[in-house]
Amino acid sequence: MRIDIVTLFPELCDGFLSTSILGRARAKNLFEAHCHQIRDYTKNKQRQTDDYPYGGGCGMVLYAQPIADCLRAVADQCAQQGRAKPHVVFLTAAGQPYNEETARRLSSYESLALVCGHYEGIDQRVIDTFGDEEISIGDYVLTGGELASLVVADSVLRLQPGVLAEEKGYQDESYWDGLLEYPQFTRPEVWEGQAIPPVLLTGDHNKIDAWRGRQSRERTRQRRPDLYDQWCATHPITQIPRWKRTERAQLIKTDAQLDAAAKLFAEGCRTVCRDVCTEAGLAEYTPEAMRQRLEEERKAGWAFYLHTTSDTPDGMVGVCHKTGEIGHLFVTQSARGSGIGTKLLDFARKKLAEHARPWLAVLDVNTAAIGLYRRMGYLPDGVRNMYQPGVDVAFCKPCKEFVMRYQPQD
Ligand code: ADE
Repeated sequence: MRIDIVTLFPELCDGFLSTSILGRARAKNLFEAHCHQIRDYTKNKQRQTDDYPYGGGCGMVLYAQPIADCLRAVADQCAQQGRAKPHVVFLTAAGQPYNEETARRLSSYESLALVCGHYEGIDQRVIDTFGDEEISIGDYVLTGGELASLVVADSVLRLQPGVLAEEKGYQDESYWDGLLEYPQFTRPEVWEGQAIPPVLLTGDHNKIDAWRGRQSRERTRQRRPDLYDQWCATHPITQIPRWKRTERAQLIKTDAQLDAAAKLFAEGCRTVCRDVCTEAGLAEYTPEAMRQRLEEERKAGWAFYLHTTSDTPDGMVGVCHKTGEIGHLFVTQSARGSGIGTKLLDFARKKLAEHARPWLAVLDVNTAAIGLYRRMGYLPDGVRNMYQPGVDVAFCKPCKEFVMRYQPQD
């Protein structure tokens, strides 16, 4: 790939492209970069590059001519090298927002020319004539386009084959994948009393990958709900994990099964509600109270299933054939992350085959469950309950209970 930067500060840009990872890659000819001084293409005696804006207003506007001539020279150089005509990007605060997807798209051009604006802007006619697109790196205004062009150059060049190969080899396509990065740790193992997550010391790469994946999803869901929604839409769970030979889901009939479910139900409620309920509220989730609730719900038409692995209860789910509701999907703490929740949700929906669009209710704070439901094809469908501290005595924070409904995919 060849990158050309058209700027009033070529030394600044060149310095960046000659430093660190990009500098080493450039020295190895993994890409070619040229930084051009706009001033060298002026035709006036003073080598002036800008002038007052027509119509008045403060600041100065870059002339069209020097930029146009510089871009023509770049195109000629590319042609002489037998390269395609460069894809021309103007960096301006008024451009389209930049993201990793755009970086990937730009990285596929054989040559890319980045034009940096300065002062109040660039004569619109040169943008209209030469620009293939206008990009902004964020909703703030810089004094010039240099930093923006370097952000684009950096994010595009790191995707070029070989650029990151020696720098940990994480040019892996799945690295971004629309999610924020998982947390990283290095030595020492305990720093100022804080130990690293124990899973990272297990040496079990399947477990570590699963943990990192969960961390990425959790962070994205909490910090960037917009990105998480997009990710869910493009990453539905299409493959339900296979049931192991030792796994079963049985209709709860016996007292022992009901006791096991009540225990799971109580533990699950305490986990889900720990951030929104008072101590007194949490203390009411006892296995005895939950058993009573399960019995009452059973009389009202619910059927409950207990999941066991090697005969040890580790999950439960309920279905109501009358209403099409799925409820009480819980997995024990120690079995979480093993796919049981996904399997049980799929199992419950199939039990409700007479309902085209089964639904479930979930607290807004239960982001882990909301993420799973979304990826399994359940979309938000209103609010069932709003809880207020003081009014609902068990609650110490306001929270909502969403309804999510299965949306069959065609
Ligand atoms: N020039 C000034 N501000 C900019 C921004 N946010 N992005 C790209 N170029 C700019």
